[in-house]
Amino acid sequence: MHIIRALPDHLINQIAAGEVVERPAAALKELLENSLDAGAHAVDVDLAAGGTKLIRVADDGAGIEREDLALAVARHATSKITHSSDLEAIATLGFRGEALASIAAVSRLSLTSRSSNAGHAWRIEVDGGEVSVPQPAALAAGTTVTVQELYFNTPARRKFLRTDATEYGHCEEAFRRIALSHPEVGFTLSHNGSVRYRLLGGGRHARADALLGESFASHAAVVEAPGPGLSFTGWVVRPAYATGGREAQYVFVNGRYVRDRVLTHALREAYQDVLHNDRQPAYALWLTIEPRMVDVNVHPTKVEVRFRDSGALHQFVRRAVEKALATTAADQPAVSAAERLGVAAARTPPPIAYTPPPGRPAQEALAFAAREPAAFYARLFGERVVTPRVDDGPDLPNEDEHPLGFALAQLHGIYVLAQNRDGLVLVDMHAAHERILYERLKNALDRDSPMQPLLVPITFAADPFELATAEENAQTLSALGFSMSAIGPATLAVRGVPAPLADADTASLAHAVLADLREYGGSRVLTAQRDELLSTMACHGAVRAHRSLTVAEMNALLREMEATERAGQCNHGRPTWYQLTLSDLDRLFMRGR
Ligand SMILES: Nc1ncnc2c1ncn2[C@@H]1O[C@H](COP(=O)(O)OP(=O)(O)O)[C@@H](O)[C@H]1O
Ligand SMILES: [Mg+2]
Repeated sequence: MHIIRALPDHLINQIAAGEVVERPAAALKELLENSLDAGAHAVDVDLAAGGTKLIRVADDGAGIEREDLALAVARHATSKITHSSDLEAIATLGFRGEALASIAAVSRLSLTSRSSNAGHAWRIEVDGGEVSVPQPAALAAGTTVTVQELYFNTPARRKFLRTDATEYGHCEEAFRRIALSHPEVGFTLSHNGSVRYRLLGGGRHARADALLGESFASHAAVVEAPGPGLSFTGWVVRPAYATGGREAQYVFVNGRYVRDRVLTHALREAYQDVLHNDRQPAYALWLTIEPRMVDVNVHPTKVEVRFRDSGALHQFVRRAVEKALATTAADQPAVSAAERLGVAAARTPPPIAYTPPPGRPAQEALAFAAREPAAFYARLFGERVVTPRVDDGPDLPNEDEHPLGFALAQLHGIYVLAQNRDGLVLVDMHAAHERILYERLKNALDRDSPMQPLLVPITFAADPFELATAEENAQTLSALGFSMSAIGPATLAVRGVPAPLADADTASLAHAVLADLREYGGSRVLTAQRDELLSTMACHGAVRAHRSLTVAEMNALLREMEATERAGQCNHGRPTWYQLTLSDLDRLFMRGR
């Protein structure tokens, strides 16, 4: 007698449904993706009771022929791929052919569709797996899928449903992701009969405004990284606008929302230097990559993907975001002070182009600056002294060159007050100087990362992964200033380390670097450690509060800020300056207009 039996199809579908339709929002996502794959221009969604009673998705896409209706709800039946080679370059959102079958196995589903060459529409109904014969139906074009009573025949699953409000929240989030990933398509969403979203098809900017709020894209830095076979564009929130709350974090890979470790890590690292620890970045980013370079067939709901060259991608993404965030003080106006203080929102002035003066030998200037900040500024200021006349305001001969304006005075030995064309500029002098020194130290070290040979090589036990990683990445390691090689089947020896990290714990640094290399293909551990060190050095080198500066020194500080990347935040992510415009001041004093 057989003990092992093949399961009936219906049961197999119910089991698959456990993975694919974990909750109403997952069913909604699958239906929306089918509409997009069918080339829809407009998609209407109706939900009832958080999607548990009803999910209806109506599109104006290509439709399904009468003969194909039954196949559409059959397991492993799809129109999207044919050969196994198709799996290597998937260009559609779906391809597994199991969504409709799974949903139909755990609900009462009806599928009505009219393909362009059909005289009228046809409908089939599936009730807990039983498929009806197609009946003529009325529908102008496209496909409408109605899912009722989700999980009516799987009480175990039903028990895991949360309140309708929570399930609706998940549905809404699924809807937002899809709508943001495809701004060219129009969408509506109704819940229990009331319209929640009405989105016209258009560009990304308009869609981001509609879904993330109008302040998002206008306060965000633009990411623009076109590349061969690879492009990465969108917006990342400027550090000063990041909040502590749960933020909108959207990354789309070839039109698909994904949660990917490599991408998330790259983004976190790009923010590491400019974002205060307790703040969360917000972003909406679209990555377009050769379908062959990404495997989407690793997760039943495809929310996770694998990149073929994740190391290179990590670097590409991190650099693109760092570049977007690394604007100098001159072209990134800080948050308007009025906005921060809650005075009615003031518009930030348009970016001002600024070309830094030809640089001095950085290394030498650096050492000097850290040692003697005041003398440094005095020397730096050199011939270009502009003496402000405080009585009738300073002369501003080079306004365009100096967007941060000219110093008026120092307040309580902490803040520098300056006047520019728009009004008053307030600078936290320690924070600003600290960032300037930090960026200079980094630049000096980036140019050549000298290796410090160790008198006695440090040896330590390594696992097979670490040995392989060290061997495969020998070149990268030496470019980082690291000399490391195997001296036994389970032992690594370090013969040299990057000079600025000579005092670090070599073995644990090596473990961390190898782990990083294996995971992300590039090592940020070294740079991260080094940056931390530099940050500490910069903090100690920067002018202390309560040290009085001359007007010339203050002006020199302003000029340095204009020429320094990321000068808008100190190393700890706090802002370094604010602009109070004349109209902010007028508003403060209720000066009529
Ligand atoms: N809204 C739709 N418009 C046109 N065809 C659809 C639609 N939804 C489903 N289909 C057809 O039904 C098939 C099965 O859908 P599904 O079970 O989601 O699998 P997959 O999307 O992975 O192919 C699809 O391949 C497609 O041909
Ligand atoms: Mg599908």
